[in-house]
Amino acid sequence: MQNNIATKKETLFEKEVHQGLTAYPKYLSSKYFYDAIGDKLFQDIMALPEYYLTNCEHDILKTYKDEIANHFTADGSPFSLFELGAGDGKKTKVLLEHFINKQLDFDYRPIDISQNALDQLESSIKQELPKVVVSPLQGTYFDTLKNIGQENKKRKVILFLGSNIGNLLHDQAIDFLRKLKEVMQEGDLVFMGFDQKKDPQTILDAYNDPTKITAAFNKNILTRINAEMGADFKLDTFKHWEVYDPETGTAKSYLVSVKKQDVRIEQLALTVSFDAWESIHTEISQKYDDKVVAWLAKESGLAIVSQFTDPKNYYKNYLFKK
Ligand code: AVI
Repeated sequence: MQNNIATKKETLFEKEVHQGLTAYPKYLSSKYFYDAIGDKLFQDIMALPEYYLTNCEHDILKTYKDEIANHFTADGSPFSLFELGAGDGKKTKVLLEHFINKQLDFDYRPIDISQNALDQLESSIKQELPKVVVSPLQGTYFDTLKNIGQENKKRKVILFLGSNIGNLLHDQAIDFLRKLKEVMQEGDLVFMGFDQKKDPQTILDAYNDPTKITAAFNKNILTRINAEMGADFKLDTFKHWEVYDPETGTAKSYLVSVKKQDVRIEQLALTVSFDAWESIHTEISQKYDDKVVAWLAKESGLAIVSQFTDPKNYYKNYLFKK
């Protein structure tokens, strides 16, 4: 007879933690930063003065909302505005409000893995912008993208803001864009934010705030492993470390063990040994330029229709068609 432990199915999170912490060099995926605590820390990051991405994109949407609306309505037919990973929708509301004022024929379909995030977003939109027809969709991007594909009735405009694409390696980003292209019909559009290459110091500062909120966000993955897998990571023995390579445009986050130590992960029946100053790579935040975005578009079969930037050229939103 098998006991409970032997028959208990391993979650994807457990599997990936096991893989990443027994690999050399060690790594974990930034997708596991996000639970209720991680979501709140990321909201706090977006309000940091150093984290320029949010304000830049907000400015772009405010400045170009009319031009953007004209693109979205180019052929005059009604459209569904899908948003992948909508979060609190603060930036999107700039567009939604403008579209309502212009009496555009559209509805809003935010997609998120978290039902809780969607519920909050829906109720805030109903309160602030009651004229917006909103139908949230709960699920992962890719599963829900397939559903979008079956949703052929209305033209689709797909938003992917916040430079979320930057958390993917180029190969993964191309795969993601190809999948988007597969669900698009003639006339559909994708509107996406890409953080741009800039003074390396500005980028390092954005991921290394003095209030240490970004450090807490990075360490939240260890907090989760402690809580969800019965591990004993001591957070103050790991140091948040950020590097930026101006050649590749890749910002990378690490957690570095400040001493030689063993960490026990009870649920995985695993003891992980760290040498002093050994690292765990946790996140990439890719920075782009026009050449790289043009290359990503070409590789995935999308065409750039237009692009919008802020006065400092820190950030760009690109509009793509099939
Ligand atoms: C969600 N993503 C685009 C953020 C970024 O900039 O890579 C996550 C983040 N990591 C540290 N600060 C913010």
